[in-house]
Amino acid sequence: MFVDTHCHLHDEKLNDTDTVVKEYLDNGVSIAINMACCALTSEKGKELAEKYSSVYFGAGCHPCDTAGFDENEFDRIKKLTSHPKCVAVGEIGLDYYWEPYDKDKQIKAFISQMEFAKEVGLPISIHCRNSTQDMLNILKDNKAKLTSGGVMHCFSGSVETARELLNLGLYISFAGPLTFKNANAILDVASYVPNDMCLTETDSPYLTPHPFRGKVNGPKYVPLILQKLAQIKNIDVDKMAKQVLQNAKTLFKKLK
Ligand code: NI
Repeated sequence: MFVDTHCHLHDEKLNDTDTVVKEYLDNGVSIAINMACCALTSEKGKELAEKYSSVYFGAGCHPCDTAGFDENEFDRIKKLTSHPKCVAVGEIGLDYYWEPYDKDKQIKAFISQMEFAKEVGLPISIHCRNSTQDMLNILKDNKAKLTSGGVMHCFSGSVETARELLNLGLYISFAGPLTFKNANAILDVASYVPNDMCLTETDSPYLTPHPFRGKVNGPKYVPLILQKLAQIKNIDVDKMAKQVLQNAKTLFKKLK
C-alpha cells in the first residue's frame, strides 16, 4: 500500500534488483517508479518495468546530464513514453549545485521536455537544486505546458515556494530528509501541504531516511517517510498511505 514515486533502481548500488524488489514488497511497498537520468537509464527503467510488475518508470534527461542531451538522446527518450508502464517524463529540471553547469542548456532541455510531456499527456517529475527562482519563473512562464501535471520531487524549499508550486497544480513529494534529526523547515512544509497533494519517495540509493542514514537507500524505506508524514499531520498511517497511493494514481495515470 506504500508507494515510492521516485527511485533509481538502475543505479549500480541497487544492482541486485531481485533482492531490492523482494525487500520492498515484504515491507508493504506495492509500487516503485524508477526515474531516469538519461536515455540509457530510461531504457533500463523500461527493462525493469517489464521484469517486475510493481516497477513503473519515467523517461527523461536530468539537468546534470544535459551536456549529452542531443536529438538522438531525446529521440530514444521519446520512443519510450508510449510504453504502458512509462508513467512520467522525468526526472527533468535545473541543478545549479554540481559544477560546472550550463544554465542555458539546462533551461532549454527542461522546457523542451516539458513541451514534450504535454504533447504525450504525461506528468513531469521535477528536480530543483540551488535554482528555485529560475525554476519558479520557468514554471510560471510555461504554465500552459503543465496540463498533465507534475511533482516537485524531494522537495526541500520553503512554505512560500510550496505555495507557489501548489498554485501551479503541482504535487509536493517528500523524501528521507523529512525524517532527519535536523529537519526543520521541511516539517512546516509537510504540515502546510494539503493531504491530497502529498507524495512519498526515497530518491534511492541517496538520502536514506533516519535511522538508517549511512546505509544504501532503497524503496523498502519509503514507509518511514510516510509514517513521519502521517505523524506531522496527526493522521492515521493507514489513512495517509491510502491517500498518498490515491494521489500517485491521480497524477501518474498509467499506474495500476
Ligand atoms: Ni532522483
